[in-house]
Amino acid sequence: MEKQGKRSNRLVLVPGSFQGHLNPMLQLGTILYSQGFSITVAHTKFNSPNPSNHPDFNFLTISYAAYDSDLSSGNILALILRLNVNCKAPFQECLARLTEKQNSDEEKISCIIYDELMYFSEAVATEMKLPSIILCTGGTTAFVSRDTTVPRAEGNNFLQGLGSKDIVPGFYPLRLKDLPFSKFGSLETMTQVVKELRNTRKSSAIIYNTIDFLEQSSLARTLQQCHLPLFSIGPLHKFAPALSSILFDEDISCMRWLDEQTNDNTIIYVSLGSITQIDENELAEMAWGLANSNQPFLWVVRPGSVRGSEWIESLPEGFEEAIGQRGCIVKWAPQKKVLAHAKVGGFWSHCGWNSTMESISEGVPIICRPNSGDQRVNGRYISNVWRVGLEMENELNRREVERAVRRLMVDKEGLEIRQNAKELKEKIQLCVREDGSSYNSLNELVKFIKSL
Ligand code: UDX
Repeated sequence: MEKQGKRSNRLVLVPGSFQGHLNPMLQLGTILYSQGFSITVAHTKFNSPNPSNHPDFNFLTISYAAYDSDLSSGNILALILRLNVNCKAPFQECLARLTEKQNSDEEKISCIIYDELMYFSEAVATEMKLPSIILCTGGTTAFVSRDTTVPRAEGNNFLQGLGSKDIVPGFYPLRLKDLPFSKFGSLETMTQVVKELRNTRKSSAIIYNTIDFLEQSSLARTLQQCHLPLFSIGPLHKFAPALSSILFDEDISCMRWLDEQTNDNTIIYVSLGSITQIDENELAEMAWGLANSNQPFLWVVRPGSVRGSEWIESLPEGFEEAIGQRGCIVKWAPQKKVLAHAKVGGFWSHCGWNSTMESISEGVPIICRPNSGDQRVNGRYISNVWRVGLEMENELNRREVERAVRRLMVDKEGLEIRQNAKELKEKIQLCVREDGSSYNSLNELVKFIKSL
């Protein structure tokens, strides 16, 4: 796909300011750069990407001063609302300056591609008469089902049955308890965010980091609701060369530890992504469950992810002796490489969309322990639609953890799930090859952007 020579048009990319959102946007930028576009990344000051990792891109800082309280409160939804109010004017100023400098085709802005959470970009694009495209970094099912969490008309309110196992009408196999309600803010704030996201549909198209066959009915439903061209071009990381981690330092020593393990498909990799937090009791139950499972494990415990602890100082006494060399704990792992490692045979995941796509692309079956928002939808699809994982739904305690790990890694049930995961990986590989659905959709997207 590499295209050298003169760059044609400039694309301004506005990534969401979180690890799980930055990665896919930068991957998209890498792909579109290889197709001949110039790339400018407009990002917030906090959680900003490192320009030296992307020497081919230009970077613009949208100088909105996020307050420390915004960042540390854990109220991500409130942060999103405030960010959208505060970033609009500085982003418009950035673009105005960029437009003034336009003196060649190369510098002409042809389109703004923004993460759907950064919807201030659409308002700016409209005011500046520029086309815009939305990038949804999450799955399409989460996108459409999210809309049902805020009723359009009085009386049609799923909140009444919140938490129940009843199926959401029209969304089988999603249950009311799987709907993407976020823990990162109050219900009122979430309602406000969903309404804002629903209102921003003046863009020219939507890009999804998904694959047609994975979410066919949700894509069809989105098309019906939005009346916009949709491009499902996932998994993005399979088209873009490996990017180093953006916000955290990877500990690559765990790759050596994996190399040293004896048998293929035996390691359970445990990671809860870049935002999820647990408490000290959950850490202890996870630890004893992993120890008692007798399976080797690689466990990412992000600094600050255990409430009240810096890192793993609250691990229970006797745990390290119990596991000996059978476990490896790191602060942050090169996840894509870990999942591609032959020794890794299972992933205990919070089911963030990136982790989901990365795991199924490598044929690694998943223990689903969703925490918030879209993760519940993803977990349900992993276990009940694609059948490449199992849900750990009960209260988190050592017995549940031990049982889930052994079900996946040792029991006959796990063999079947592993076989499904292998077959899903093969189907995904076909989609990113020449003439595959994602490959073709990507080519269509490039043509579409050029036609704007
Ligand atoms: C957030 C939301 O929580 C998630 O629900 C949504 O789908 C995307 O945005 P996050 O929780 O960080 O994302 O999860 P995920 O989407 O899985 O993204 C995590 C990223 O960090 C992945 O690309 C993963 O490869 C990377 N990662 C994680 C590492 O590189 N190393 C690690 O040790 C852990």
